[in-house]
Amino acid sequence: MKMIRFVGVFTACAILLGTFTSCASNLKYSGSALPEYAYDETAPSLYEEFADYFNVGAAINPSDLVEGTEQYNIITKQFNVFTMENDTKPDHVHPSEDTYNFTNTDKFVEYGEKNGKILRGHTLVWHSQCPDWFFYDDEGNEVTADVLVERLKEHITTIVSHYKGKIDTWDVVNEVLDDNFGLRLSNWLKIIGDYDGDGDKYDFIEIAFRTAHEADPDARLIINDYSLETSENKAITMYNMVKQMLEEGVPVDGVGLQMHIGYDTDIEQARNNIEILAKLREVNPDFVIEITELDMSCYSWGDESTEIELTKEFVQQFDDKYCELFNMLMDFAEQGIIDTVVFWGYNDGASWLNGFPVANRTNHPLLIDRDLKFKSAYWALMNLPSQRQTAD
Ligand code: G3I
Repeated sequence: MKMIRFVGVFTACAILLGTFTSCASNLKYSGSALPEYAYDETAPSLYEEFADYFNVGAAINPSDLVEGTEQYNIITKQFNVFTMENDTKPDHVHPSEDTYNFTNTDKFVEYGEKNGKILRGHTLVWHSQCPDWFFYDDEGNEVTADVLVERLKEHITTIVSHYKGKIDTWDVVNEVLDDNFGLRLSNWLKIIGDYDGDGDKYDFIEIAFRTAHEADPDARLIINDYSLETSENKAITMYNMVKQMLEEGVPVDGVGLQMHIGYDTDIEQARNNIEILAKLREVNPDFVIEITELDMSCYSWGDESTEIELTKEFVQQFDDKYCELFNMLMDFAEQGIIDTVVFWGYNDGASWLNGFPVANRTNHPLLIDRDLKFKSAYWALMNLPSQRQTAD
């Protein structure tokens, strides 16, 4: 609590002084008139501020969709793209072969339609949060490739058809790459394998994309993964796989970079990796890159501590890193490569990073704090578009 209070005081002081960002003077947002609370009706809006560059979104949960609450007002004002953090995953939507549970995602769609938002569906195929029934028969034996392909097609057709014209973008497959080399050895890969006998094992991915496209030809179809921004090896593996699939006519519209990064992430490495993936536009000029799950941990990878002291210096470094990242993303937006940036959550208190990868850890990875106040990182980012336009 002490740390949180410190950050609140620091933010307030910074606002009063108008000196919280290293991003130069002539700030559009500065001084004592700035709203402190994220739900202040007079507060500006992230997605409106970045409208010339990209959509700005957040992952949310059903509890955020209660009209009239601060949470509802914040998300509606700040973001124009939304993903359900957990409720559209296979274990929620399709817990057993004959059961589909659309309740929470239907409410999400209702919210999106009412407020004119862009909606993302996360995710149709994943090795995690995917129930075992897909892979085993009633006797507990592993199913054949034919059976799993049929289940895969039925699963995707039913869900994508249900949301046809309503969910704009699907993370069709999630995290199919291995951390070190090639494809992840999931049940999908193991059982379906080289189904068409053409020598590669991309088949479950290809079937997933083709089936989703048949169910909703207008939906944007994304292949989503983590560490694409930090591991050049993984970015190249993704590039090679998607290039081959595009050349074979598989309807992949873009790559999703989850972007769960740290305050010490090398942004130039991320730029390099995005450039690698952007070369897929040589095969399909409309190919896009989306940032799908952005957050910035306050801990270095491998650091086992559970509390971090939010000193003035640390907060400055954190805010600068967010500025550096967004400037890089705006460079790609100007080239038409990136059009969507989605945060994984919207306030520190609800982030999955509290507790991962270290149990009971307190983290502060987002732009709004636990008390639903705008952090200095929020204001630093809010000043970037106008600063950039002044510099042009
Ligand atoms: O809802 C149950 C609750 O009833 C139960 O009491 C509680 C006990 O553990 O668990 C609750 O479910 C948890 C769920 O989050 C909702 O809070 C699950 O245990 C927990 O495993 C689940 O974690 C989610 C994780 O995916 C699962 O792998 C995180 O919230 C979610 O942020 C995270 O999201 C993933 C993306 O889908 C893919 N990319 C990485 C990202 C972060 O891991």
